[in-house]
Amino acid sequence: MEIVIAPSSELAKRAAQEIVRLIGERPHAVLGLATGSSPLETYDAVTALYEKGAVSFAQASAFTLDEYVGLPPGHPESYREFIIENFVSRVDLPLENLHTPPGNLDDVEQGARDYDEAIRAAGGVDLQILGIGGNGHIGFNEPGSDLESRTHIEKLAERTRIDNARFFGGNIDDVPTHAITQGVGTILEARQLVLIASGTSKADAVAQLVDGGITSSCPASVIQSHSNALVLLDEAAASSLK
Ligand code: F6R
Repeated sequence: MEIVIAPSSELAKRAAQEIVRLIGERPHAVLGLATGSSPLETYDAVTALYEKGAVSFAQASAFTLDEYVGLPPGHPESYREFIIENFVSRVDLPLENLHTPPGNLDDVEQGARDYDEAIRAAGGVDLQILGIGGNGHIGFNEPGSDLESRTHIEKLAERTRIDNARFFGGNIDDVPTHAITQGVGTILEARQLVLIASGTSKADAVAQLVDGGITSSCPASVIQSHSNALVLLDEAAASSLK
């Protein structure tokens, strides 16, 4: 696990470089995309490189990590809409090459199995961008999760719903109670992981991820076991490290 501590603009540049390098080597690469605040500067940095002609996603494809269950299609806070607005619509990645977990099928559990299968059929994720929850979740694998899980439905932790209420006008009651998420086992199969964390609200979870053992009380701690993982931290997120 490589750890870089730097200002967030530098972290975004580093993550963007990793993406651009991968696409340069493998134009058909499969990206794993996170939503939420943490990767936004990275997506801005990648878009800036795209606009300079440094990278094209025309042959690439992408799988997102997770989706709320029960939001109507097109809901502005659905993670599908989020990733289209903040990344996919800004570059030349074909929309038909964007895969997002289904949050509103009649049979979401079958949809979860199909999603995992679709990732495998695409050859697996080459580079997975990750954030980390203040409680140590990755994707929406909350503390206590099975560390070998595949894509599944997860009940969101109270802390996660409180943290994400900011996207729903500050009202926790509007935050869905469940999400469909790539499992920890699914995430670990990506060939490279790049986790981005900033701010003091992530410091405890980051300390557990880096300095604690691998434990389901901090699902992100599994990253320690990955052979190609880059952890990008600003000073605040790194402030509780030993
Ligand atoms: C989002 C995701 C989550 C977030 C995490 C941090 O697709 O999988 O694990 O990365 O909740 O969220 P932010 O970046 O908004 O602090």
